[in-house]
Amino acid sequence: MALTRRSLLHGAAALGAGASAGFPHIWIKNSGLAIAANGEIKVGVLFSLTGTTAIIEESLNKATILAIEEINAAGGIKGMKIVPVVEDPASDPATFSEKARKLVVGDKCVSVFGSYTSASRKAVLPVFERQNNLYWYPTLYEGRECSKNVIYTGAVPNQQQDEFIPWLVKKFGKKFYLIGSNYIYPKEENNYCKKLLEKYGGEVVNEEYVPLGHSEFSSVINKFRSTQPNVIFSTVVGDSVVALHRQYRAAGLDPEKMPMASLTTSENEIAAMGGDAAAGHFTSAPYFMVHKSPENEKFVAAYKKRWGADKVTHFVSEPSYFQVYLFKQAVEKLGGKDISPNTIREAVKGAEMTAPQGKVRIERENLHTWLWPKIARAKPDGQFEVLVDSAQWQKPVPYAAYPGQNCTEKGLTQS
Ligand code: ACM
Repeated sequence: MALTRRSLLHGAAALGAGASAGFPHIWIKNSGLAIAANGEIKVGVLFSLTGTTAIIEESLNKATILAIEEINAAGGIKGMKIVPVVEDPASDPATFSEKARKLVVGDKCVSVFGSYTSASRKAVLPVFERQNNLYWYPTLYEGRECSKNVIYTGAVPNQQQDEFIPWLVKKFGKKFYLIGSNYIYPKEENNYCKKLLEKYGGEVVNEEYVPLGHSEFSSVINKFRSTQPNVIFSTVVGDSVVALHRQYRAAGLDPEKMPMASLTTSENEIAAMGGDAAAGHFTSAPYFMVHKSPENEKFVAAYKKRWGADKVTHFVSEPSYFQVYLFKQAVEKLGGKDISPNTIREAVKGAEMTAPQGKVRIERENLHTWLWPKIARAKPDGQFEVLVDSAQWQKPVPYAAYPGQNCTEKGLTQS
């Protein structure tokens, strides 16, 4: 495996413009001193509380705040309180970028927890790379990113699709209709899906993208009828998940004959659409609320106690919660000294903890997370029945769709 010119350039860009002049070192030292001086650790919390993805991001904010409150109630980190600075980027990538800059440069947060959509992560990435800060991203995403300024705790395509696609082909048949929201995440997931379909003898009867926030699916549903797929593979996000499921149901389509198989439909969207609209459809993810473990029982009970007995946990709120504990572990490992994005990153490499879903680990090479893939069917009560629970945790392979490319500690490599 050789370092390419591109990877070296990427690495240089990741260090930021001032890196070669040694500027980030001075900045980090100052930032660390500021943190130590007032006995507080300021972190940003950047999830949309308004707009089309607030339906899910609001719950990511809640899971993050819950973890921070729990840690502070238990004495903080080495006696230091975590102080969350909360911003609402309103489901708008430009606002994400503006707020990220405010949190990092203005508030001097040492890390920021944030984002659901990949569009918003891509929008803030230049801020974190230029300022050499750390973004903790809890959402499943498309991979194909190698930044030393992001800790990725959600699933990448190999962790959601490697078991799911062959299972679907075997159970339902080979004809797939790919429907997604129109941005980078669904397109890259579908790129990987098509590779797996080729491998397992599947085929694509149609591939279609709708605008973010799309709510009128009648023409899409007409195409479901005319193409008669065995599986509708959905990477639609946000409010559109609710509209798609409700309109599918209202059109009288039958999940027994033409199920939707989704990477993005969680207990949270189901709570918004009603259990009947989701019942019989499938999701692949590393976490479901029904998962049985002492850590999950504690998480679910604490979440409900803090935010309401009717609230649900799901496969993006769970990483939102456990990644704050990984942050705590990293700062603890530093002994409460020299706390900076650089030292936190080094301390989190290879870190492990028992999360609600099971033991997770931050992969040293690429800062993505080892997770536990599962396949589940939605029930009318709004919960899932887990049908396949992988026997082993699965390594994150962010470049699985790009053979030869690999994300390493030195940057992107090409063999
Ligand atoms: C996503 O945009 N990563 C769901």
